[in-house]
Amino acid sequence: MHLIIILGLIAKLALVSGDCEGGNGVSNFDYNKFTGTWSVVYHEADDGEDKLDCAYLSAYRLRNGSRIVSLYYYHDSIKGSVERIAIVPHIDNTGFDLDVLDPSIWNGRVQFAAVDYKRFYVAKFNATELRSVRVYVGYRDRHPDEATLNDAKKALSDNGIDFDTLKSWNSSRCDHFNYKPNRSLEL
Ligand SMILES: *[C@@H]1O[C@H](CO)[C@@H](O)[C@H](O)[C@H]1NC(C)=O
Ligand SMILES: *[C@@H]1O[C@H](CO)[C@@H](O)[C@H](O)[C@H]1NC(C)=O
Ligand SMILES: *[C@@H]1O[C@H](CO)[C@@H](O)[C@H](O)[C@H]1NC(C)=O
Ligand SMILES: *[C@@H]1O[C@H](CO)[C@@H](O)[C@H](O)[C@H]1NC(C)=O
Repeated sequence: MHLIIILGLIAKLALVSGDCEGGNGVSNFDYNKFTGTWSVVYHEADDGEDKLDCAYLSAYRLRNGSRIVSLYYYHDSIKGSVERIAIVPHIDNTGFDLDVLDPSIWNGRVQFAAVDYKRFYVAKFNATELRSVRVYVGYRDRHPDEATLNDAKKALSDNGIDFDTLKSWNSSRCDHFNYKPNRSLEL
């Protein structure tokens, strides 16, 4: 009888610690699987970022092997799109650094809380210049299906982030915003 209770407790503890693993972030990040285009749909509310919309992130490699991340978004102050190109000088098991060619608020470190290479990621961006850490959620598809949205929300809550505090860069203008990453630069 006691044994059954103890076994039950062990099983429960195993389950709890298993559930917590998502909260420790990604520990085997793979840049090659991450390459391609992502729609960055959710971000934390911020006066500067609220002026942006329809954000994309495109990760690729140049023919000479250098890794590049392009950030592309609509900016309300110019009523048009902006592209920022960053070199990725360092990668490890948890994410990568961004070194934007123009000195920029986008310099810093991207650390993944969760990544499903075919569907979504949850990233924390430690911005060097702004000295702040902000959360972003990207999807392969700007209009993710219900299951993908729910799985991303679960990944957020596993990492102690409240989905309801995030804002969307997905206004109706994004449906007409045509982003075509420069494929000739890719391998
Ligand atoms: C690859 O080419 C880019 C663009 O010309 C350059 O900035 C970068 O330093 C090069 N990387 C290497 C490893 O030579
Ligand atoms: C953000 O990066 C700086 C170094 O650039 C580091 O000192 C700081 O601890 C980092 N913050 C977090 C929360 O990771
Ligand atoms: C983005 O907006 C479209 C409508 O413009 C909507 O159908 C879609 O669900 C939205 N996606 C997200 C992730 O909010
Ligand atoms: C794509 O990149 C190549 C090489 O840098 C450049 O010559 C070409 O003009 C670019 N095309 C577009 C549409 O930006």
